[in-house]
Amino acid sequence: MGCSPILISLSILSCSALILAGDFRKDIDIVWGSDKAKILENGQAITLSLDKASGSGFESKAQFLFGKVSMELKLVPGNSAGTVTSYYLASKGTMWDEIDFEFLGNLSGDPYTVHTNVITQGKGDREQQFRLWFDPTVDFHTYSILWNPKTIVFYVDGTPIREFKKMNTKNVAYPEKQAMRVHSSLWNGDDWATRGGLVKTDWSKAPFTAYYRNFEVQDCDWSAPGSNVSCGGGGPNSWLNEGIDENSRKRLKWVQSNFIIYNYCNDAKRFRLGLPTECVVMN
Ligand SMILES: *[C@@H]1O[C@H](CO)[C@@H](O)[C@H](O)[C@H]1NC(C)=O
Ligand SMILES: *[C@@H]1O[C@H](CO)[C@@H](O)[C@H](O)[C@H]1NC(C)=O
Repeated sequence: MGCSPILISLSILSCSALILAGDFRKDIDIVWGSDKAKILENGQAITLSLDKASGSGFESKAQFLFGKVSMELKLVPGNSAGTVTSYYLASKGTMWDEIDFEFLGNLSGDPYTVHTNVITQGKGDREQQFRLWFDPTVDFHTYSILWNPKTIVFYVDGTPIREFKKMNTKNVAYPEKQAMRVHSSLWNGDDWATRGGLVKTDWSKAPFTAYYRNFEVQDCDWSAPGSNVSCGGGGPNSWLNEGIDENSRKRLKWVQSNFIIYNYCNDAKRFRLGLPTECVVMN
């Protein structure tokens, strides 16, 4: 069954592969620093702030098993060193799965770091970090996470920056059994985010504010973890079957050769007993 690309609201289940145009008033809960989170533009936008007393954060009410999530973000401008704007998917429990974007602020004029990680069954240590090819504080840019049964792809403005594929080996767990929620927060990470605490957050510049808008989730119609996911077969153009085509593969290579600043797969010093399986085994 085809699914029209028109954005439909969650209440209208007119096709089984669901696209949710998010309304921050209905679709999220503010779970931290509620006095510092502000929903604007009839639910189409939200701002999170951070001051010395606290940061703020929200999570989606819905949880889903596989999906494609997109959000437009405009990051904390100026001297944002020490601030961390996070945007990720995560399940719960000690064997949780998580797919992370974290944006590490910097001194005025110095570039942000985009930090990514994939945690499966509670095991992470899969960091890749990037620079961006634009200043992420001037305009909104779209950051997306594709999570389907075959692959996880991180996108910036539609350009894939990182892929984590399901491996043919059981030695590398893939997130496929636990539903996740979308989470976002703005917090003080100055003991970690600035090269191990080298630079401290300048509280005289507080409050720091990050802007979010056009939250969109394409997910499956499913009721409980373990039940069968129904996405109407998806179709060749559905996110459910989405992979990286030849053109996007070139873009991914461009990012991976020009903008990556840390890749755990190249960190032999850190993994003295050998690099993680997914770094060395061809799929
Ligand atoms: C801040 O900018 C400096 C200079 O370009 C860079 O070395 C450092 O990694 C940046 N820090 C972060 C957190 O991105
Ligand atoms: C899921 O699909 C399998 C195979 O089609 C079927 O045997 C099973 O009963 C289904 N489970 C649920 C919870 O619908």
